[in-house]
Amino acid sequence: MTNETLSLISSRRSHRAYTQTPLTQEQIDALLKAAVESPSAVNRQPWHFTLVRNQELLDELNTAVREQMMKRNSDKRSPRFADKDFHVFYHAPAVIFISGMPDNLYTPIDGGIAVENIALAAESMGLGSVILGMPREAFLTEKADAFRKALCFPEGWDFVIAIAVGTPADTKPAHDVKENRISFVD
Ligand SMILES: Cc1cc2nc3c(=O)[nH]c(=O)nc-3n(C[C@H](O)[C@H](O)[C@H](O)COP(=O)(O)O)c2cc1C
Repeated sequence: MTNETLSLISSRRSHRAYTQTPLTQEQIDALLKAAVESPSAVNRQPWHFTLVRNQELLDELNTAVREQMMKRNSDKRSPRFADKDFHVFYHAPAVIFISGMPDNLYTPIDGGIAVENIALAAESMGLGSVILGMPREAFLTEKADAFRKALCFPEGWDFVIAIAVGTPADTKPAHDVKENRISFVD
């Protein structure tokens, strides 16, 4: 079977290079509408979305993530850190940070659903995206509070996930699908 939604799901990729073309206001509005329309447990909507276009702030976060990662053993670090030109946000023109309500069992799941809604909405508009867990490292540093403030996280809320969005400047094949991840019980 195929339809427009299934095709979008199949064509989405994680893009790790972007042009500097800024998002239009119409694109931003549509991405954030898709985000807030996501389902959430008990409709708690335990999320806050912060759209960042400030490249200086993204550079500061990138530096903090890199420094934090370098404190780890190399086997616990993404191989991407071996590349000196690696940038956590891949120089995307916009990154959406999702911060989450504390003490709520489903905050990470609800945040994950919302970030995928954003990814698929981006794909539907001819934009590319990459979901980003790595920025979490910046919130383990002594600058964490300053970053939470700069990113407008509500008081007491913390980083859940982020997603970079822009016009892709790379192409990528579909990921390999691991075997034995589906069972049928009739
Ligand atoms: C929760 C989560 C966190 C991720 N964090 C990162 C990240 O920090 N940096 C990155 O380059 N890709 C990140 N990814 C992208 C995955 O590497 C990617 O989805 C996976 O390799 C499959 O490739 P595809 O998205 O192109 O299908 C993340 C994906 C998910 C779902």
